[in-house]
Amino acid sequence: MSDDAYYLTTPIYYVNDTPHVGHAYTTLACDALARFMRLDGRRVKFLTGTDEHGQKVEKSAEAAGQDPKAFVDRMSEHFRELTDAMNFSNDDFIRTTEERHIRSVQQLWRELQKRDQIYLGSYAGWYSVRDEAYYAESELIEGPEGAKTAPTGAPIEWLEEPSYFFKLSEWRKPLLDYYASGGVVGPETRLNEVRSFVEGDLRDLSISRTGFKWGVPVPDDPDHVMYVWLDALTNYLSAVGYPDTECEEYKTFWPVDLHMVGKDILRFHAVYWPAFLMAAGVEPPKRVFAHGWWTNEGQKISKSLGNIIDPFQLIERYGLDPVRYFLLREVPFGKDGDFSHRAMIGRMNSDLANDFGNLVQRVLSMIAKNCEGRVPEMGTLQERDKGLLEKVAELLTDMRGDYRQQRFHTALERHMALVGEANRYVDEQAPWALRKSDPERMRTVLHVLAEVIRNLAILAQPVMPDSAGRILDQLTVGVEKRAFKHVWPEARLAAGTALPAPEPIFPRYAEEEGRESEEAGA
Ligand code: MSP
Repeated sequence: MSDDAYYLTTPIYYVNDTPHVGHAYTTLACDALARFMRLDGRRVKFLTGTDEHGQKVEKSAEAAGQDPKAFVDRMSEHFRELTDAMNFSNDDFIRTTEERHIRSVQQLWRELQKRDQIYLGSYAGWYSVRDEAYYAESELIEGPEGAKTAPTGAPIEWLEEPSYFFKLSEWRKPLLDYYASGGVVGPETRLNEVRSFVEGDLRDLSISRTGFKWGVPVPDDPDHVMYVWLDALTNYLSAVGYPDTECEEYKTFWPVDLHMVGKDILRFHAVYWPAFLMAAGVEPPKRVFAHGWWTNEGQKISKSLGNIIDPFQLIERYGLDPVRYFLLREVPFGKDGDFSHRAMIGRMNSDLANDFGNLVQRVLSMIAKNCEGRVPEMGTLQERDKGLLEKVAELLTDMRGDYRQQRFHTALERHMALVGEANRYVDEQAPWALRKSDPERMRTVLHVLAEVIRNLAILAQPVMPDSAGRILDQLTVGVEKRAFKHVWPEARLAAGTALPAPEPIFPRYAEEEGRESEEAGA
């Protein structure tokens, strides 16, 4: 793995369903991180894609009256559309029905077999098709109708069939050592849960199914298809060229820096996956981060409740960048959070329109009016001016720490704190009053502010690429001068540069008549 390389992945999404806000959220977090790392000069590979095999998908295809391949081709497109609609900057989009993946997962299987990690036995136990997961009797819970369900509430069925097993039980010690190496599981609070699962009754894992066909055939035993999670997890390797471990992609990007997942699928990524890899002689991931779940106006999101949040509708109603900002700012990343229209509008109007938008608008308008629309000269800087500019450089350093730990909300909070500080500086310096009394000082103040805005826009790009780009356009900052190496004091605006007429960047959301009260009462 080369030093400046950074490889990060989203889970691959089941194509039984159309995308909802949960899917958009996981990929958005990765997108912000990928953009941050690129702006910081790293060579990034950002992967997303779709999980297309297994019984759940097969059943959905059947219900849709379609052949599975035609069904997955159609459904996978919705996730590609989401990628465009959300302005995701993924470098690759993998599908588990692709040849490159099938080859890779079959080779991983052979490698495990060669290393004596797989044996043929038979499975008798519980299975949940919805979760595509095996459950021990002790994990089941009492469902609302008295029937036993999976701990997730998903229905279960009794399964008895021949099955290949992976010798997971032999990997307890290596897994615990791996966690002890530090930083592997984030947030820290989730580490205990993973560790106690591994320290508990760690049984061998069934890794093949019979009785249906929609999966990758087990090499040399076509009655079996691979367990969909072994198949799916391997996508992360397929996308870097595995089994060709000598190729450039693999050598550059493996081991992966970060698998971003939701808390519901942490066990698969932090236990099964590193065990498969170590057993096959492949290095395990450097880090797995589990984020929390969204509820909708206080309620669990589910198809049966009919309260799915459609990301396409959100974008249409509020605009893309406000949605991206809200999702990453509202909830401490790693915790569960609640989506409400009121909170969305609150963030949009107060943080973006009133604070950030207003700062940009008022400063650029003053420059347009009082400095002939050109970046004004910077005279002698006072302590207060220097202090404000220094905070910009500090902000970058702090944001690096936040992004490394996936604390997106903290990074945004800091960013907005500096916006607030810049607004206070405007009020305090009152450049409009200086126009007559001390025009030179007015020009310095406006220059400092334009400079602060340039930096705030550069640092806003990972989360709000389009809006930040438009602010930089208004300052005529060329696209080649928007990376973090151009943050103050490394680069500066040139006095005298002509600026275009300012245009508002962050619109206020005007509540439609009746809607607010309707939602407040809901
Ligand atoms: N196909 C598997 C992943 C295989 S990865 C090798 C899968 N797919 S999924 O489509 O069901 O879910 C993908 C992601 O969406 C998960 O990380 C899950 O946590 C996330 N979300 C689904 N609903 C969510 C919310 N309500 N809130 C936040 N994220 C949620 O699992």
